[in-house]
Amino acid sequence: MNALVVRHPGWPSRSGRRQTCRVTTEHYFTAEPSGPDHRREIEFSVAGRDYRLATATGLFSAGRLDPGTAVLLRKGDRPPAYASGVFLDLGCGYGPIACVLAAEVPGATVWAVDVNSRARELTAANAATLDLSGRLKVAAPDEVPADVVFDQIWSNPPTHVGKAELHTLLERWLPRLAPDGVAWLVINRHLGGDSLHTWLVDHDWRVDRVASQKGFRVLRVARKTG
Ligand SMILES: C[S@@+](CC[C@H](N)C(=O)[O-])C[C@H]1O[C@@H](n2cnc3c(N)ncnc32)[C@H](O)[C@@H]1O
Repeated sequence: MNALVVRHPGWPSRSGRRQTCRVTTEHYFTAEPSGPDHRREIEFSVAGRDYRLATATGLFSAGRLDPGTAVLLRKGDRPPAYASGVFLDLGCGYGPIACVLAAEVPGATVWAVDVNSRARELTAANAATLDLSGRLKVAAPDEVPADVVFDQIWSNPPTHVGKAELHTLLERWLPRLAPDGVAWLVINRHLGGDSLHTWLVDHDWRVDRVASQKGFRVLRVARKTG
């Protein structure tokens, strides 16, 4: 593992003093992170509900709710509390999207899928803290039973895996939408938001750009017949 030591301003020690921490060049999408596992908690609010979730180094945006995720949760059409169905948080990280969906929709089952084992561990811990474990199912991609169909897919997808890998990911999961299912994606314009929009249209999906905020595109994706 390549590693470098940097002074990271965002990770204060328990005493409150800034500390030097070890930052590795492992990607946030590493399957089995071997770098340091420093835990902390972050707080955010969605629709007046406060969340306090555990995060860890080695995960995507471990220091704060990612701004793109915040835009997705604000601009995506989150299902109402009386909804039911099966939802997927594709690339769940420490689980902010999955936790919000499961907390807001008591009748839903939410699958939280990630390749990163530490991400899955943190999402499971956060689900337990929020008393959501019964309905929030954390899984590696291959662990989701083949017959599970999703009414909604929510994702801040990994862009740093590269365009080809991102396309492969979406080709794997979007077809698992129910016939009238909908996917909500957020992607930074500078990281290919508009070319992803074009690619989805070229692959026969109906795509609506429902919001563009702070450089993030929020895309609503559905089957053309849906
Ligand atoms: C941009 S991050 C979003 C994390 C989290 N949803 C959030 O909003 O903070 C994308 C996530 O996708 C995961 N990921 C990368 N490749 C994946 C794959 N092939 N299948 C599932 N998850 C993947 C990464 O490990 C990472 O946690």
